[in-house]
This record gives sequence, C-alpha cells and structure tokens, in this order.
Amino acid sequence: MARLELKNLHAKVAEGDEQILRGVDLEVESGEIHAMMGPNGSGKSTTAKVIAGHPAYEGTDGEVLIHLDEDEFGEDFEIPEDKRTWSILELEPNERAALGVFLGFQYPAEIEGVTMTNFLRTALNAKLEEREELFEDDEADADTEEDDADESVPSPMEGPADDGEVGVAEFQEILSEKMEQLDMDEKFAMRYLNAGFSGGEKKQNEVLQAAILEPSVAVLDEIDSGLDIDRLQDVSHGINALRDEQGTGILQITHYQRILDYVEPDRVHIMLDGKVVKSGDASLAEELEDKGYDWVREEVYETA
Ligand SMILES: Nc1ncnc2c1ncn2[C@@H]1O[C@H](COP(=O)(O)OP(=O)(O)OP(=O)(O)O)[C@@H](O)[C@H]1O
Ligand SMILES: [Mg+2]
Repeated sequence: MARLELKNLHAKVAEGDEQILRGVDLEVESGEIHAMMGPNGSGKSTTAKVIAGHPAYEGTDGEVLIHLDEDEFGEDFEIPEDKRTWSILELEPNERAALGVFLGFQYPAEIEGVTMTNFLRTALNAKLEEREELFEDDEADADTEEDDADESVPSPMEGPADDGEVGVAEFQEILSEKMEQLDMDEKFAMRYLNAGFSGGEKKQNEVLQAAILEPSVAVLDEIDSGLDIDRLQDVSHGINALRDEQGTGILQITHYQRILDYVEPDRVHIMLDGKVVKSGDASLAEELEDKGYDWVREEVYETA
C-alpha cells in the first residue's frame, strides 16, 4: 500500500508572485479512485503539475508526501523503515516517478523512428534504475565511484536505450499481459511515436504507460476530454484495470459526470480558488451535474 498526501499545499508560478494553490489538503491511497472537479481556473491542473514537479510552479508552503509500505515495490525490494515516507517537493520529476507517482509524459512526438514498445521499455528501465539509486544505502554508494561517475539515468525522452534491467524479450511478455488487461490491440505498441496518434489514441497511451510503470498513484488530468463514446469506455476500462490489477490509486481530474459512470469514484473533491473546499461520495458529482458550482461557492463563502 502507498498513500499520496497533500498537506496545506501552497504553490505559485515560478516566475512571478501569483499564488495559485492556497492550501490544498488531499489524500489518495492505493486502490482508491478519487475524482477532482471544479470550475475552470480553480487550480486542478496546477495541483497535478505541482505533484509531478513541473518547473513552471513552485511549492511555497505545505507538503506533498508519499508514504510507502515496506513491500510496495515487491517482496524482493524491502523498503527500510527510514525510507518509507518521502517529502517529494524537492525531488526531480523522475525521482518522483521512481517513488511511484505517475503523470502522463509530455507526448514525445518528436522522436524519430522509435516505437511505442521501445519507448515504454526505456521508461520502465529508467524508473527501475532511478529507484535503485534512491534506495541505495549510503555506505554502498560511497564505495562505488563508478556509480558516481555515471549518475544520470537515461531519459526515455532522449530515445531508446538498448540496455537496462528489463530486456526486450521479458518486456514483450509484460507488454502483452498489460495490453490484454487493458483490452488493447497489440498493433498499437508497434506504432512509431512520431506517426501521428489521434487525440483519443494519446489518451489510451497514457493508460498504457501507467499500466507498464505500475505507479502507486496516478494523476490523470482530463483523460476523458475529446474521447468518443467507445473510446471513453475503453479508457475507463483501462483505468479500472489499473486499480483492480495492480492496486494503483487514481486521482482523476474531470469536468464531467459521464466518465464517473464507468470509473466509479470512492471520493469526489471540489476545488475552488486554489483549495479543496468540499469532498463527498459519488453522489456529489451528480449534484454538480445538476446544479453547477454556484451553490458550492455560496456555501463556502457564507460560512467563511
Ligand atoms: N504558468 C502560469 N502562469 C500564470 N498563471 C497560471 C499559470 N498556470 C496556471 N495559471 C493560473 O492559475 C489558475 C489555475 O489554473 P489551472 O490550470 O490549475 O486551472 P484548472 O482548474 O486546471 O482549470 P481548467 O478546468 O480550465 O483546466 C488559472 O487562473 C490560471 O490562469
Ligand atoms: Mg486544467
């Protein structure tokens, strides 16, 4: 089990003084589905980007914590007691990913001649290598000068790496299994990254990436936007599979009740003016669909 915890999170744009997040409190545990809703400009995407470590934003107060159980990364990887809680605001995005936080990659459309399969394998190996480095005990670290010289983990954005922990054959097996879980056509993974995926196909790729990387918590920002009805169901099926098959906790940002019919949230949170102002069960999303946000605003500002 793992838990992502936002505690009184404040953030502003890195270049400027504009405060966007004004005290966000939120917890998402493995295996749970949380929906985040809220009017345009209320700070939902900023929350997602601050969790991921987007350089355009700066945390100014509060914390983002990830709590890991000792066996979060499998039985062969025991997490020592003093490394089970990480405050991630100071970490690099790839370090956060190695700790189990997932946000869809910026779409790497510009890489020539690289298949989706190759990209995904490189991403998986980069994550595993980064994880080894984060959990390497410090004594061992001091002994291996070689490691120090070679401290940069190859980025999947820079093209495929031939080596890495997971080899081609093993990766094919993982990929087949995951694609079956997601009901995806295997041909998909053989496509080239620069071959013009449609909007909907990109969203499906995002789910596939999350299936391969097996994050503890995945943040999905408007993954339902621009999907046709069939594809919405496919993507929803995929999100449910992430939760059911690998226990991923989901923070799903959305404007519409529609996807929540397929991906049933355990909790629904409403964001307003940079804060989570109200939380409830799935019926809260239905209420918003009926009534919009004015009543929430009234409720919040009257009692304030
Ligand atoms: N890089 C930036 N520079 C200046 N202002 C920004 C920046 N990023 C976000 N903002 C502002 O912060 C506020 C919150 O933006 P954010 O994108 O988080 O909203 P959102 O809740 O995701 O909205 P939407 O539902 O429209 O996607 C907005 O007023 C936006 O203009
Ligand atoms: Mg947004």
